[in-house]
Amino acid sequence: MQIVRDVESLRNAVDALRSDGGRVAFVPTMGALHDGHMALVAEARRRAAHVVASIFVNPTQFAPNEDLSTYPRREATDARMLEEEGCDILWAPDAAAMYPEGHSTTISVAGVSEGLCGASRPGHFDGVATVVAKLFNQVRPDIALFGEKDYQQLTVIRRMVRDLDMAVEIVGVPTQREADGLALSSRNAYLSEEERQAARALPRALGEAASAIAGGADVAEALAKAAEKLAKAGFNPVEYVELRDAETLEPLSALDRPARLLAAARLGRTRLIDNLAVSPRE
Ligand code: PAF
Repeated sequence: MQIVRDVESLRNAVDALRSDGGRVAFVPTMGALHDGHMALVAEARRRAAHVVASIFVNPTQFAPNEDLSTYPRREATDARMLEEEGCDILWAPDAAAMYPEGHSTTISVAGVSEGLCGASRPGHFDGVATVVAKLFNQVRPDIALFGEKDYQQLTVIRRMVRDLDMAVEIVGVPTQREADGLALSSRNAYLSEEERQAARALPRALGEAASAIAGGADVAEALAKAAEKLAKAGFNPVEYVELRDAETLEPLSALDRPARLLAAARLGRTRLIDNLAVSPRE
C-alpha cells in the first residue's frame, strides 16, 4: 500500500491504478480505525478493483469546544490495518496540504444539515461537506463508501453529490456493532468502564422504540419513553431522539413512509449517536 501526502503524488498514484480500466472505490476516514471502517474497506473491495482510503482529522468539522486536540491519532496502526484489508493507497495529507494558506471556500448543504446533530454542532456539516468535496476532487473515485452510523452525514453527502452533479456513487454501509449492540465508533475509546456498560442503553432504547413504532405505537410517546430510558441509564443531556424521513430527514410524527429513528446523547464527556431504520408494516 502506497502512503501519499501531497495532491500531485495522489493523482499520479490513482492514475496508475486506473490504467487497467478498473473502478476506484474511496473510503474517507479520520483514522482511529475499527471494524466499522474495515467493513467499509471490505465492501469497497467487493465493489471496485482498487481501493483508496484517506485519513485526515478535519479541523473544520470540530467546534472550538470539541475534541479536535484529543481525537485519537494512530496512523501507523491504521496503515497496517488498511494494508491487511487490501487497500491500495492511503491518502494522508496534513492540514496545510488540505487547507493551503488563503483557503476560503465552504460548502453548505441547507435543510438536511439543520436540526439533529446540526443543532448542537453548528458549522459541523459545512466542515464535513467541504472536506468531502475536496477529497472527492483529489481522489476522483467512482464510488465512495460511508457508514450509516453517521446517518445525517451520509444524507448531507448524498444531497451535496446530487445538487453539485458530482460523478461519484455514494454507498451507505450498515452500522457495525459490538456484541451488546453498541455501534462501533472511534469515540467509544473515551468511555470509562462504567460508561461503557451504561452505553448499551442507547441501542437498546432505540431498538425498543423502533419495534414499538413499527408495531403502531404513538410516535411521540415512543420517542419520549426512549429519551427517559437514556436519562435513567445516565445519559445527560439526551440531545435528541427523533423520527425522520429516511431520505429528506423531515421530522415525522407518524410512521407513514420509510423512516429513520435517530438519537444523540452524552455520557460524561463522550457524545454518542446511533440510528435505526423503521419502516411501516406492509
Ligand atoms: O465520518 C468521518 O470520519 C468524517 O466525518 C469524514 C467523512 C471522513 C469527513 O472528515
